[in-house]
Amino acid sequence: MDGNGRWAKERHLPRIEGHRRGADAVKRTLSAAQKFGVKNITLYAFSVENWNRPKDEVDALMSLLDRFLQDQLPELIKRKIRLRVVGRFSELPENIQNRLHQAEEATAAFDEYTLGLALNYGSRTEVVDAVKAVAQAARAGVIDIDKLDYETFRPFLYTRDMPDPDLIIRTSGEFRLSNFLMLQSAYSEIHFTDTLWPDFSEEHFEAALKDYASRERRYGKTTQQLQNA
Ligand code: FPP
Repeated sequence: MDGNGRWAKERHLPRIEGHRRGADAVKRTLSAAQKFGVKNITLYAFSVENWNRPKDEVDALMSLLDRFLQDQLPELIKRKIRLRVVGRFSELPENIQNRLHQAEEATAAFDEYTLGLALNYGSRTEVVDAVKAVAQAARAGVIDIDKLDYETFRPFLYTRDMPDPDLIIRTSGEFRLSNFLMLQSAYSEIHFTDTLWPDFSEEHFEAALKDYASRERRYGKTTQQLQNA
């Protein structure tokens, strides 16, 4: 959800105003996702690197998140969307952890739509956490390290019960993944748009889905193999 700061700067507004408008774009995107039948969506809301931002911006982002979770929980329940946190949970502020726990519990039974919130997330941190958990499981005799492959490794990731993304949308004209779902995106299609996140609308979402629909996903195979399958 990149470009909040630039959106605000263009309007001579404080950066947090861009984040506030970004939270409105989140609400629009969630209803558009349901309209278009997109069942799983993960928003990169706060990276492990984002702690390095000025303290007042970090604090403002956390209180925006707090308010968002409070206001939107009834909406998630109404829309039957399960919330899943993706990231190093235990390092988030306690009030946010409590809200997230509450929202995860209240929506745990919904099995059609999932909203992943990547918070205190970074792929490298995720891999390190997964490797530590694998080592502990091996030490406890729960897994046989000689038989470890990606399928047995996968359940140790934060995204253990979520499908790999088919499509990643990067807003604001930047061309990089910024430590986002690096393992899970091995075969994802990527859509880049110049639109700044606060301006991201249903029309932009639809354009990204159309772009996705035009791609040929070969997963290492040839076009001919796909045609013959
Ligand atoms: C990146 O834009 C955006 C963020 C680091 C925060 C995203 C947060 C929100 C959209 C609102 C809170 C989240 C939820 C789920 C309600 P940037 O600040 O790096 O923009 P810039 O590159 O233009 O400076």
